[in-house]
Amino acid sequence: MGKIHAAITGVGAYLPDYVLTNDELSRMVDTNDEWITTRVGIKERRIEKDPNRPASYMGIKAVENLFARTKTNPEEIDLVICATSTPDHIFPATAAIIAEACSIKNALCFDIQAACSGFLAAYTIASNFIESGQKKKILVVSTEKMSYMVDYTDRSTCPLFGDGAGALLIEPNDEGYGLIDSEMLTDGAGVPYLEMKAGGSAKPASHESVDAHEHFVYQEGKVVFKHAVTNMCKTTADVMARNNLTGEDVKWLIPHQANLRIIEAVGQRVEVPTEKIFINIQKYGNTSSATVPICLWEMQNNGQLKKGDKIVCTTFGAGFTFGAIYINWAYDTEK
Ligand code: UT7
Repeated sequence: MGKIHAAITGVGAYLPDYVLTNDELSRMVDTNDEWITTRVGIKERRIEKDPNRPASYMGIKAVENLFARTKTNPEEIDLVICATSTPDHIFPATAAIIAEACSIKNALCFDIQAACSGFLAAYTIASNFIESGQKKKILVVSTEKMSYMVDYTDRSTCPLFGDGAGALLIEPNDEGYGLIDSEMLTDGAGVPYLEMKAGGSAKPASHESVDAHEHFVYQEGKVVFKHAVTNMCKTTADVMARNNLTGEDVKWLIPHQANLRIIEAVGQRVEVPTEKIFINIQKYGNTSSATVPICLWEMQNNGQLKKGDKIVCTTFGAGFTFGAIYINWAYDTEK
């Protein structure tokens, strides 16, 4: 028997129906389709407008989609890790809410906060549980209701984000398929450049914090952009080098979908040709930790993933937390 790796054996997702276009945004703030398209690459994003549908709702829908596809018995799931920056509550964990709604009764459930890098961090954690033999069927769920913390009077942030969720089934594989390598890092000097200023124990909610719009995403875009390119390039290059992967060998590069210009810069620097870079930012915008799972879900549904495909994913987000992973894809997908 070969070494045990944590393989993705199914992908589900959920995207809300409502499509917020650049034209509609142009009627809300002083922006336009041309600026958003050329500076960011987004044409539209999905928004969960119903206030009774929090992040857990989208996570549940993604898990239901995954279970229907993989015919999973919820009782077999032994760990649920939910990556989210938009939890239903500060506590308890959104993972517990999702598990209860999905009849998962035999699992440890917890959330992790690694912002837009949450999926890569969660998969890396899941992989350690699998490789150690402690867990056998893990759900990783990334669900983000970004619209609840976007200030739709701030043109510098409101075009960027969308809502959505992805769910992945992770199981042991002893034939060399699964998560082969992961390099995840954090540069805490980045904290002030991308954050929600109030609402936590450092600055509890108050009339003043609400009046000052401090419960929304605050971002210094240029600083974040620079660090995103540098750190996504470095970790991707590191992971490729130590696994002897060239741009030729990589079947797919799946980058975090925050800005098309960042994606293109990373592709160029690590020398992966454009046609091997998966991009859907134009349709969904930045769904934070859900971007990579939603990409995998679309690729699965398009039949674009084949057993043995060498896939590199890279992300960057608040913290700053960033990294890259290398997956040897475990199953053939069909349209
Ligand atoms: O997922 C977490 C990680 N996040 C990221 O990776 C995001 C990284 N940052 C970015 O993607 C980009 O910095 C932004 C998309 C946020 C901004 O793009 P930029 O090219 O850095 O623009 P900027 O902030 O430097 O603004 C350039 C100009 C400014 O006008 P002036 O000062 O040159 O007259 C802005 O006021 O564009 C203006 N501007 C806009 N104009 C029309 C800013 N936002 C808008 C807008 N519509 N929505």
